[in-house]
Amino acid sequence: MTDAPTLLILGGSGDVTARYLLPALAELEACGRLEDGFSVIGSGRDDWTDEHFRSFAGDGIERHGGAGAHRGRAELLERLHWASADATDADSLREVDPDGAGPVIAYLALPPTVFADAIEALGSIGLGDRLRLAVEKPFGTDRSSARSLNELLARHVDEDHVFRIDHFLGHRTAQNLIGVRFANRLFADTWNRSTIERVEIVWDETLALEGRAGYYDGTGALVDMIQNHLLQLMCLVAMEPPETLDARSLSRSKLELLRRVRGPDNADAPERTRRGRYGAGRVDGSDVPAYVHEDEVDPGLGTETFAAVHLMIDDDRWRDVPFVIRTGKALAADVRHVRVTFRDVEDPVFCRRDHQDPTPPPSRLTFDIDPDHLTLSIALNGGGDPFGVRVRDLELDFEPDEVSAYASVLSQLLSGSSTLSVGAEEAEELWRIVEPIREAWSEGLVALEEYPAGSEGPGCPAAGGPAGVAG
Ligand code: BG6
Repeated sequence: MTDAPTLLILGGSGDVTARYLLPALAELEACGRLEDGFSVIGSGRDDWTDEHFRSFAGDGIERHGGAGAHRGRAELLERLHWASADATDADSLREVDPDGAGPVIAYLALPPTVFADAIEALGSIGLGDRLRLAVEKPFGTDRSSARSLNELLARHVDEDHVFRIDHFLGHRTAQNLIGVRFANRLFADTWNRSTIERVEIVWDETLALEGRAGYYDGTGALVDMIQNHLLQLMCLVAMEPPETLDARSLSRSKLELLRRVRGPDNADAPERTRRGRYGAGRVDGSDVPAYVHEDEVDPGLGTETFAAVHLMIDDDRWRDVPFVIRTGKALAADVRHVRVTFRDVEDPVFCRRDHQDPTPPPSRLTFDIDPDHLTLSIALNGGGDPFGVRVRDLELDFEPDEVSAYASVLSQLLSGSSTLSVGAEEAEELWRIVEPIREAWSEGLVALEEYPAGSEGPGCPAAGGPAGVAG
């Protein structure tokens, strides 16, 4: 009998499974990171067979996976099985019988509205200590539902056996943010308001809705991206040094930071936030219909496809430093980075000689994400003019990662480590920051601006400093 884990995917016929989970598993397969005996059971109400699930998986990997996933596809398919069941019904779930004696990792790739019932059902089918729970975002629909979900999880499984998925924590750049900050005296001592003027976290996508209205419509850019992924990146940029790099210390540092974040509310949302929705346009040479004309979109929900917010952190390290977070779909270019802009030196003896640019950029450090690239832009003199400086870029390309961010998070999950998981209280605190913004928006205090698909979008909030964030 094998001790290898079984991954039980609830929502096995859904978009997250086809788009993320199965391609990521295939990547892990290709580089030999799935152990012998490991198997995957896809489950859902559909009356499928193993063959049907394998063909669904094969298509998903083909469409959404990269070269690594394509290499691992055939071998992975042999590990896949299907079990028809209603994830919210314990009797039905009891029929799904994972072989072996190893951990059963139940992965909730389900709509958040059924998480609670699914957890109750899973908790009562007698898996005991073998049960692990992996929960996809969004974790709850607001702070109080996130808290209830945490209480429910705690009734059925130990916190060490809960894995709240945020695949951005698997990006190498996310890990580099900590490495660069805490492993270099140069930055460790200067990473604060006296040296840093502003921080921008940008995730602009050329991708439009891509047939995901069922999930995205009514969710919107703020909750889809900022409430989880981009605030997690902000934690890594701004948190105090963790005591160690273990899951609990990291989560504690992130949580303490989140507690000090001051988001906009009704009073200042008009100056500190912007929201937009794409209209018809062209992206990368292809026509994109207006969001409201995409299949299955309900225009009445007023879902935003662009969100930008200006956050502050109330502590001695960051007081008055703007953190501007921006994301949108169907934009002109894929711009994905964390950018730290440094203050100019006081009383400079050098003058800037960037004649071609009347407002030369200040020194800054940019972490580009996927592909990963680091740029340190600093003022350098010389070149026939010893008393003038120009800003030059020192650049570093990282070797491509062996696997994608999603696959590295999955690999941690399968190995039983929760270092890349989001902690229980973090998940609640993330909603505390976002809820007042949603409230201000739903009260109509901030206009929903229409931008043509393929354009740069509405830009950043006026209170966040310069109106635009450079690409
Ligand atoms: C997902 C969001 O979590 O992250 C998508 O739901 C977004 O809307 C995606 O496109 C971005 O991450 P990645 O890794 O797919 O580029």
